[in-house]
Amino acid sequence: MDEKTLQGQTALVTGATSGIGRAAANALAAEGATVIVHGRDAARGAEVVEELEAAGADARFLAAELGDAGQVRELAAAAGEVDILVNNGGISAFGPTAELDIDRYEAMFAANDRAAFLLVAVLAPGMAERGRGSIISVSSMAGRVGLAGGAAYGGTKGALEAMTRAWAAEFGPRGVRVNAVAPGPVFTGTATPREFLEQLGATTALGRVAEPAEIAEAIRFFASPRASYVTGAVLAVDGGRTAI
Ligand SMILES: NC(=O)c1ccc[n+]([C@@H]2O[C@H](COP(=O)([O-])OP(=O)(O)OC[C@H]3O[C@@H](n4cnc5c(N)ncnc54)[C@H](OP(=O)(O)O)[C@@H]3O)[C@@H](O)[C@H]2O)c1
Repeated sequence: MDEKTLQGQTALVTGATSGIGRAAANALAAEGATVIVHGRDAARGAEVVEELEAAGADARFLAAELGDAGQVRELAAAAGEVDILVNNGGISAFGPTAELDIDRYEAMFAANDRAAFLLVAVLAPGMAERGRGSIISVSSMAGRVGLAGGAAYGGTKGALEAMTRAWAAEFGPRGVRVNAVAPGPVFTGTATPREFLEQLGATTALGRVAEPAEIAEAIRFFASPRASYVTGAVLAVDGGRTAI
């Protein structure tokens, strides 16, 4: 694990100012990648950049609202040549279907799906031209299992997994691998209440909630040459929840 297999590569991690994204940024930096830390909060962005630099990595922060298509395109342009794209940033809003505000529904699909689509649209052709690249999207077990109150959020993640498979078909012939990680409940800065995460954690085979680093490990694997023959896959990192 000491081998820096991503030396000379640049990774863009969306939603890297917190939680799973921050852990993924650290894991990719530890593997030698230069990391572009994306988020909205410039102060936390600077803190993560400092953390990565202190660990010896090159890093910079780029701000963008993922719900705004123009800002997402600007983010992709400002990122430049990207070898590893981690579509992690996103929103989760749960609630009875009859009560979920349609604006929250639209905002979730914009941030969780449209932003990923736009980033892939701008960045994947360059990867294909260079003959290498790895795209990893962060899905959720909610994309697989029916959770009461999770129709819209689960819908965003089911769509992300479908796009992952289509992108694997589209870009695979030109050397770009596209995969997804589907976490179970994880303790992060998420607005999801802690008790709800703990209730979900209790339903997993391992009977607990995950830490962000446990999800980041799977992202690091997909990004690395150790996953050189893996594409179109969705890896459940959910304590066994979707297996039982
Ligand atoms: N936590 C869980 O239990 C869990 C389980 C399964 C899947 N996931 C998925 O894992 C991913 C990361 O979740 P997390 O729990 O680690 O999140 P988190 O701690 O709440 O952090 C979310 C990150 O995304 C950014 N972000 C959120 N909405 C954004 C928007 N509209 N525009 C730009 N940036 C935005 C935030 O940036 P700023 O704070 O700087 O604005 C932050 O960096 C999400 O896709 C989530 O659906 C989480």
